Amino acid sequence: MNNVKNIKRMKLYRHPERIYSELESIGYKKDIPLKAADISSFDQYHYLGTEAVDDAIGCLNVCSKNKLIEIGSGLGGPARYLAEKTGCHVTALELQSDLNQIACSLTERCNLSESVDHLCGDILDFSEQGANFDAVVSWLSFLHIQDRVALLKKCYSILKPGGKIFIEDYCKRGEFGRQELKILSEDVQCSYLPTAEEYKGQLIENGFTKIELVDKTACWSNFVKERLDKFIKNRNCYVKIHGVEIAEEMEDFYKKILQLFHKGNLGGLRITAVKG
Ligand SMILES: C[S@@+](CC[C@H](N)C(=O)[O-])C[C@H]1O[C@@H](n2cnc3c(N)ncnc32)[C@H](O)[C@@H]1O
Repeated sequence: MNNVKNIKRMKLYRHPERIYSELESIGYKKDIPLKAADISSFDQYHYLGTEAVDDAIGCLNVCSKNKLIEIGSGLGGPARYLAEKTGCHVTALELQSDLNQIACSLTERCNLSESVDHLCGDILDFSEQGANFDAVVSWLSFLHIQDRVALLKKCYSILKPGGKIFIEDYCKRGEFGRQELKILSEDVQCSYLPTAEEYKGQLIENGFTKIELVDKTACWSNFVKERLDKFIKNRNCYVKIHGVEIAEEMEDFYKKILQLFHKGNLGGLRITAVKG
């Protein structure tokens, strides 16, 4: 499930280069220097954009001395925002090489290459040698990774003692029907979701303490509804910038996610915990 060929079936990831057209449409031609905060409406693939990253900064008390790793860093939006706002160092690990390359180029344009290291690879293969992070952060990436035991063991081993994790992820609230399972596995590339209780149990079994779960379901449900409404309202403009094919792909993706939240069996969690 973690392999790149499968994940590319998810429409959100098919044309990541669309960010360049988006930036050009607001006056940032290719190679013009950028500020991370100026491009944050386009480079965050999770819910509630930089507001969610600010939550992480607050929960983890991130400061300039900290070394963080972001698992599944996408176009690098959260990593750049973290580094620009707090002065911390971020290792941004991303599975898909095209996303990783775009992330690198945007980070260079933001003059943040010394604070953000972009690595391309699978977290399950990430070398633990010498890894000693103050925190692991992740937004909507764990849902793609079926082997949660291996994933949580890896998170534990790359943290320093007392290090923290901050995860935003989907969870299961009720039994999914056939259609929901199809959307999850094909359109979201998600083949396994624990309930909140199961999530907590897995964290405890893998050595984490001080576990706090915050239910984000209502808030994310509103977000995905507003995202689709806004998209439909601005559809003509989107088609002008990206063409019909990309517009249709994105609309279909946004509709399917809303469908999942509307059914009530998909939930959202913000999870924080401490190593040992
Ligand atoms: C929904 S995106 C979120 C990206 C970024 N965190 C953000 O909020 O903008 C999830 C990302 O996780 C990446 N991913 C999935 N499985 C991964 C793995 N095993 N190792 C590293 N990255 C992974 C995907 O390629 C995708 O870019």
